[in-house]
Formats: sequence, structure tokens, C-alpha cells
Amino acid sequence: MNLILLGAPGAGKGTLASYLIEKMGVPSISTGNILREAIKNNTPLGQSAKEYMDAGKLVPDQLVIDLLKERIAKRDCKSGFILDGFPRTIPQAEALDEIAKIDCALALEVPNEVIEKRMTGRRVCLRCGATYHVEANPPRVADVCDICGDKLVIRSDDQADVVRHRLETYHEQTEPLKGYYDAQGKLKSIDGTKGIHETEKFAVEALGL
Ligand code: AP5
Ligand code: ZN
Repeated sequence: MNLILLGAPGAGKGTLASYLIEKMGVPSISTGNILREAIKNNTPLGQSAKEYMDAGKLVPDQLVIDLLKERIAKRDCKSGFILDGFPRTIPQAEALDEIAKIDCALALEVPNEVIEKRMTGRRVCLRCGATYHVEANPPRVADVCDICGDKLVIRSDDQADVVRHRLETYHEQTEPLKGYYDAQGKLKSIDGTKGIHETEKFAVEALGL
């Protein structure tokens, strides 16, 4: 299955994706993680993306379309994939339709108030992309990644004012994608405000896994 996870920043797309990777046996592609890694390694892609990300703005469409195209062409995506954070605009969705056939867009519905609370507790691993929450999903040892042992950090775009801007960007530019996929009969929505395991259960039911 080729699946898109839609939802506001902090809705829980990355957290759900890490569960679905195992359940569906397909890779997850997070454009945000790819861009953060590029910034960490100071590559030309990272240099172009950094100022947009730090300001809570979207990176230009062509940049992410190119990197997504390259990633989807890899062998591990042949039997399906999960997209976390792509597409984010109508032009990105149109470009994606040219690259691959999408089976389902699963929207995680979470209101802004819940998001703002979640973001303040988020900790991430910049080496392997794993995401934690100090209360809802803590690592076994404080501030250390369970998977790779790297030190966990607060994302530079998780400060309250940047989060507010990212939410505005989401509602203006990304939320219209729900209508785009609904018109194709591919949209499914689930409640993302409950715990992590409930959200996994809702997703399994909605996707018929
Ligand atoms: P990206 O990395 O994609 O960030 P995002 O979409 O803003 O989403 P997040 O990663 O913030 O949240 P999430 O939904 O994955 O939530 P998570 O699972 O971490 O993008 C960052 C930036 O990159 C963008 O602003 C843009 O600049 C650029 N970019 C990326 N893709 C782009 C594109 N296609 N086009 C243009 N620009 C692009 O969960 C959040 C927290 O809540 C965690 O701490 C988690 O542990 C916790 N949590 C999760 N689920 C639950 C639950 N059910 N209950 C309690 N806590 C929970
Ligand atoms: Zn890690």
C-alpha cells in the first residue's frame, strides 16, 4: 500500500509511521527528517532548507519534490511506502500523482491546543529520526535514544512562536489537501487526540490492516 499521513505539525504522524513500518512492512519517508539530516551534515540541500525550517515556513516545492522523487525510486519502496510530511501543498500532491499511485491519505485530526502542549514535551534523535515525548513516550534513559544511543534534543522549530507559525502554514497550505484526496475517494480521517496506542488502533481499523 502507498499511504500518505496527513496532519498538523505535532499531530503524531512520525509516531504513527514508526508503528506502521512494522505493521505494514514498508518504509516510511519523512521529508522533515531528510531535511534535518541534510542541515546537520551541512549539505547544499540543508543550506537551502535551513532558513525556511527555522522560520516555520515550507521549503520550496521543487526542492522537496526532487528529493522525494529520488527517495521513492529506491528499491525498498517497490512494495509500498508511507509518506510522513509530504505532500504539503497542492502542487506537491499533483507532482506526486505523476510519480506514484496513492492508495490512501490518512488524516490525523488534532486541534491546535493539544498540539501546542505536545510540542513542548517532544525530544528527537537527529541521528536515527526517532521521536519521544517526556510524558507520553519517554525514552528508557532520560535524553538518550533507545534505538541508537545518541543524545536527544529539542527541535529548533519547536519553540512556541515557531510552532504557532507552522500551524498557520498548515491550515493555509496543507489542510486543503484533505479536499484534494477526498475528491479522489482516498481520504480517511481518525481522531488523533487520544493516546499513542489508541491512535494506532484507529489507524489499523481505518486501513483494514
Ligand atoms: P516535519 O518534520 O514534517 O514536521 P511537521 O509536519 O511539522 O510534523 P512534526 O514532525 O512536527 O510532527 P508529527 O506529526 O510527526 O508528530 P510527532 O509524531 O513527532 O517538517 C518540519 C519542517 O520541514 C517544515 O516546517 C518545513 O519547513 C519542512 N518540510 C518538511 N516537509 C516538507 C514539504 N513536503 N514541503 C515543504 N517543506 C517541508 O508527535 C509530536 C509529539 O507528540 C511527540 O513528542 C510525540 O511523542 C507526541 N505524541 C504523538 N502522538 C501522541 C499521542 N497520541 N498522544 C500523546 N502524545 C503523542
Ligand atoms: Zn536514535
